[in-house]
Amino acid sequence: MVSLSPLSLLLLLRLLFLFTLTHLSTSQNTTTKHYYLKLPLLHKTPPPSPSQSLLRDSLRLSHLHHHLTSPIISGASSGSGQYFISLLLGTPPQPLLLIADTASDLIWTHCSASTHHNPHNPIFFPRLSASFKPHHCFHPSCKLVPNPPNSHCNNRSTLHTPCLFNYSYADSSSSSGFFSTETASFHSKHKHTNLTLSFGCGFRVSGAGFNSAQGVMGLGRGPISFTSQLGRHFGNKFSYCLKDYTLSPPPTSYLTIGAEAQNDNVVSNKMKFTPLVVNPLSPSFYYIGIKSVSVNGAKLRIHPSVWSINDNGNGGTVIDSGTTLTFLAEQAHREVVTAIRRRVRELTVPSPTPGFELCVNESKLVKGASLPRLKFELVGNSVFSPPPRNYFIETEERVMCLAIQPVNSETGFSVIGNLMQQGFLLEFDRDRSRLGFSRRGCDVP
Ligand SMILES: *[C@@H]1O[C@H](CO)[C@@H](O)[C@H](O)[C@H]1NC(C)=O
Ligand SMILES: *[C@@H]1O[C@H](CO)[C@@H](O)[C@H](O)[C@H]1NC(C)=O
Ligand SMILES: *[C@@H]1O[C@H](CO)[C@@H](O)[C@H](O)[C@H]1NC(C)=O
Ligand SMILES: *[C@@H]1O[C@H](CO)[C@@H](O)[C@H](O)[C@H]1NC(C)=O
Ligand SMILES: *[C@@H]1O[C@H](CO)[C@@H](O)[C@H](O)[C@H]1NC(C)=O
Repeated sequence: MVSLSPLSLLLLLRLLFLFTLTHLSTSQNTTTKHYYLKLPLLHKTPPPSPSQSLLRDSLRLSHLHHHLTSPIISGASSGSGQYFISLLLGTPPQPLLLIADTASDLIWTHCSASTHHNPHNPIFFPRLSASFKPHHCFHPSCKLVPNPPNSHCNNRSTLHTPCLFNYSYADSSSSSGFFSTETASFHSKHKHTNLTLSFGCGFRVSGAGFNSAQGVMGLGRGPISFTSQLGRHFGNKFSYCLKDYTLSPPPTSYLTIGAEAQNDNVVSNKMKFTPLVVNPLSPSFYYIGIKSVSVNGAKLRIHPSVWSINDNGNGGTVIDSGTTLTFLAEQAHREVVTAIRRRVRELTVPSPTPGFELCVNESKLVKGASLPRLKFELVGNSVFSPPPRNYFIETEERVMCLAIQPVNSETGFSVIGNLMQQGFLLEFDRDRSRLGFSRRGCDVP
């Protein structure tokens, strides 16, 4: 994993921090939200050999055990192949870079109790902010975060006892500190808005993967996520399009909170929809239902139960912006690999990177031919047809390796990672509980 030096990170922040907050009010209808918030999604500079660090998350995630007592699980801690959002927090505002993660809820930043701002260590300094305020441990919000077992709270105490949180990720990395409120500033050329956000001020952070980010921006389903908190102001839907960051120059991707009105009509017509499923045992996740998978039009023999969420809350398929690769239940994975291998047999080469089981030499591909085409038939009769570059990654020049890994659906769940999502506009409509997707919307600037 290559991490940016703190200085270049700061530079990146300054150069790329270009929010737009647009006022679109033209209609008489006062019940409709007229505002939306559009934030650039930044991609970390790809490491010279992406496969190794990408594989690292895959190995971590495949060892994942789904603990029902800790529903907070995602690949956000694994740091590579991530998308970031910048946030201005505090008074005066301090710039932070957070991992965009649809598979967890908490917004948290790495915090320091120091009063000396260190430009080489751009983390959040609550003592340098006039608007920082920890929640009281008796505040109802404190029940929305996992509290460490030893956090005592006495209501009669006249002292301000802060709300303690300890938030853990799949690979057992964690962040703990004070669950607090702070002012976040969003601005464009024309408009400046401050909103109060609840967030975790993490004084103790463990896990190497967070190194290059100052925290995580949880975009999950729960009430404390960024999308839930901002949904109250901008409307309860959000969308993003992850563009191919290997292109040069890398295009900018955006996260939009609320409905972008002029896009809405154009794009909705082109969108396909599938219901978002709720799993009460993992309420942060956005689940979708897969009905079948086909390779070059031939439907694979996979029993439908392979895709279902079981009584223990395991299984199912989650849309996760914080994980790079895609993970499919073992039985499905085996069928997919077999079907693809059969169609590329003459092209296969030994994997230059251990861990990828199927790699092809693209230069042996007959002119005009393409790598096998995967199609996912989803609940709601929509079909998700990603291009091959969403599930093959170039690990060496012209060597493409299948970027789909197996997961045990008895203890884990399938994941549609951020690589698989590239080039699609994804709209998470939380009120209508559905996911819209379209290749067209991604081109709309
Ligand atoms: C305003 O818009 C909402 C949603 O589009 C619609 O349900 C409502 O009926 C509209 N109200 C008026 C007064 O037009
Ligand atoms: C927003 O907050 C910043 C710093 O937190 C402050 O300087 C600014 O005056 C505030 N603006 C508004 C419109 O409240
Ligand atoms: C805590 O104390 C305050 C005032 O002393 C009271 O308003 C509040 O209801 C108490 N909360 C609980 C949960 O007992
Ligand atoms: C937070 O939880 C993790 C695992 O759940 C544990 O390893 C860590 O020590 C805890 N941190 C604190 C400060 O309680
Ligand atoms: C891929 O195929 C080309 C042309 O057949 C050959 O020159 C090249 O060495 C091959 N690369 C690998 C890694 O096998």
